[in-house]
Amino acid sequence: MAPIKLVAGNWKMNGSLSGARLLAEEIAAKSAPTARRRVAVCPPFPLLSSVGAFLKGSGVLLGAQDCHAHEKGAHTGDVSAKLLSEVGCRIVIVGHSERRTDHRETDDMVRAKAEAALAAGLDPIVCVGETEAERDAGRTKDVVERQVPASWPKGGTVERCVIAYEPVWAIGTGKTPTVGDVAEVHSHIRSVVAKLGVAAENLAILYGGSVKGSNAPELMAVPGVDGALVGGASLDAADFLKIVNACQ
Ligand code: PGA
Repeated sequence: MAPIKLVAGNWKMNGSLSGARLLAEEIAAKSAPTARRRVAVCPPFPLLSSVGAFLKGSGVLLGAQDCHAHEKGAHTGDVSAKLLSEVGCRIVIVGHSERRTDHRETDDMVRAKAEAALAAGLDPIVCVGETEAERDAGRTKDVVERQVPASWPKGGTVERCVIAYEPVWAIGTGKTPTVGDVAEVHSHIRSVVAKLGVAAENLAILYGGSVKGSNAPELMAVPGVDGALVGGASLDAADFLKIVNACQ
């Protein structure tokens, strides 16, 4: 069985309540669910409940951009996976490179967050990817070889977990790896996951980093690419929908 694909929009720290309504309603109206591909939007925390209501009945999944590893407690400013689930989230992004950089998140922290997500009934999208310096040093495969096993949640299954390969240098820059490079890294990630004793052939591995409507047909056709994690282009309904449509 091939992996169920996923196109997830990461709105990051963007949007307003009024803008979110227009964006979510258009995506909800125009991304027909299929048996082989899921669609999700991940707005900032304060918009989750409203966006959940705008998406209601559409089949488009609500996702969050991060969660804390603990269920509750004295963690000012953080949000638990359990609460995210309660407000309707089905998915949560963990270990995005902006979290790894801005909040110094380590692989251990990312793994703990992914485990908390699973325990709360959320499907984690675990992000990995090399920096420009690591790529220039020819270390891309070493980086994913370190990040993937260290960030993969204990007890994680391919039915519940998704990996997003996001080269840091491609995020928000308009630069993308060649299709050959994407295919090679995805295949390497799959072999690393297989060594964890997981049915890696059924794992959805998303590509992320400057995916747009214009390059989506090429990127989504790469063997081993099972969807996209989309930042900038997910803020434009028409562009996001082109990416969704490119992922069949
Ligand atoms: P981008 O971001 O599509 O704007 O490059 C991708 C991401 O950060 O997930």
